[in-house]
Amino acid sequence: MSGSAMLELDRVTYAYGAVPVLRGVSLALAEGESMAIVGPSGCGKSTLLHIIGSLDLPSTGTVRLDGEDFARLDERALAALRNRKIGFVFQLHHLLPQCSVLENVLVPLLVSGVTPAGYQRARRLLDRVGLSGRLGHRPAQLSGGECQRVAVVRALINRPRLLLADEPTGSLDRASAEALAALLAELNRDEGVALICATHSRQLAARLGRVLSLADGVLQSGDGGALA
Ligand SMILES: Nc1ncnc2c1ncn2[C@@H]1O[C@H](COP(=O)(O)OP(=O)(O)O)[C@@H](O)[C@H]1O
Ligand SMILES: [Mg+2]
Repeated sequence: MSGSAMLELDRVTYAYGAVPVLRGVSLALAEGESMAIVGPSGCGKSTLLHIIGSLDLPSTGTVRLDGEDFARLDERALAALRNRKIGFVFQLHHLLPQCSVLENVLVPLLVSGVTPAGYQRARRLLDRVGLSGRLGHRPAQLSGGECQRVAVVRALINRPRLLLADEPTGSLDRASAEALAALLAELNRDEGVALICATHSRQLAARLGRVLSLADGVLQSGDGGALA
């Protein structure tokens, strides 16, 4: 595989006990590139994103981000790498219900301390996603689409190199899903952050640079007929 890729997976396998889910996934992603991973429920998309995000280590095979092999880092170094380099967005937003929009977005900065620059970035990104009028709202006071936009800003606050989104539009209505898909594609371009989305959405996949499908534990190019 190319030595210049930002993210490289080499023959990654993963099994839950005796049940193999990934059977040899190889993948290279360049800086700023975007990609959809599609496939039927249960094919292993979330498992693969967890491994790419260093939340789980592969059974065999290697994952490298900026040349660093995850298997050679201890838990502390992995946690630091995740906080600095990787942003996560899930199907459900996982915002803190008792915190405001602005506070939720600042949470990832608490590890290193909220600086004036960090605070300005939070304000700018929330403005960018159309939420500058909602800074003091609690998640329960927002729509599903607005909550997902907050989750996206929270994921981007530390200027990650890689944004991982697991069915980010999966619980939104069609119009909100379309808006979020457009937003993710724009942020990928404007913020220079690489983007991998696991999705069933044709609208979202169509906005990303490449579509790969996960079937029988391996990745193939094309949607494999899996898109809704
Ligand atoms: N914690 C777990 N323990 C055992 N099996 C699991 C666990 N998580 C997922 N699986 C199984 O692994 C397979 C892939 O799951 P997942 O990665 O969630 O797929 P997808 O995200 O594509 O729906 C499924 O068969 C699922 O049942
Ligand atoms: Mg999943």
